[in-house]
Amino acid sequence: MQQTLIIFKPSAVERGLVGTVLARFEAKGLAITGMKMMQLSPEILREHYAHLVDRPFFPSIVASMTASPVIVMCLKGVDAIRVVRSMTGDTNGRTAAPGSIRGDFSMSNQENIIHASSSVEDAEVEIKRFFSPDELFDYTPDAIRFIN
Ligand code: PPS
Repeated sequence: MQQTLIIFKPSAVERGLVGTVLARFEAKGLAITGMKMMQLSPEILREHYAHLVDRPFFPSIVASMTASPVIVMCLKGVDAIRVVRSMTGDTNGRTAAPGSIRGDFSMSNQENIIHASSSVEDAEVEIKRFFSPDELFDYTPDAIRFIN
């Protein structure tokens, strides 16, 4: 069983796509274990995108990710990190496969609807970055979804 972190970026919040995208994750069988709206700061973005701070597009990431509040979410399921990344698609919406979230809803590298943790190590760090322990809920709503 794994937990992964999703950020519904301003491109999802502003375009009213949060429910549509979340419905895909719920229909797939992932369980929501944490969810909140928050305004990101440049400080938390420098931490979250530490591997990109020296890239020329980093100022655009900050401008884009602070343009409106985001919704951060923790999803749980068997192999959840890989499953969510595969549903998310390539970074660039223009090359992401049709049927993936970015392939269906984005034409951009930056305004690409959601962020999703890329590895077990990243998921652990990212969940702690955005959620305190009392904001996460451990439950098994429907055991059949969690059979490996
Ligand atoms: S990289 O460059 O290999 O580290 O790319 P990736 O791991 O896919 O993460 C890139 C994140 O930066 C955001 N972003 C851009 N990427 C590429 N080019 C441009 N111009 C750009 N602008 C923003 C991109 O949306 C990825 O964000 P996350 O939240 O990780 O998906």
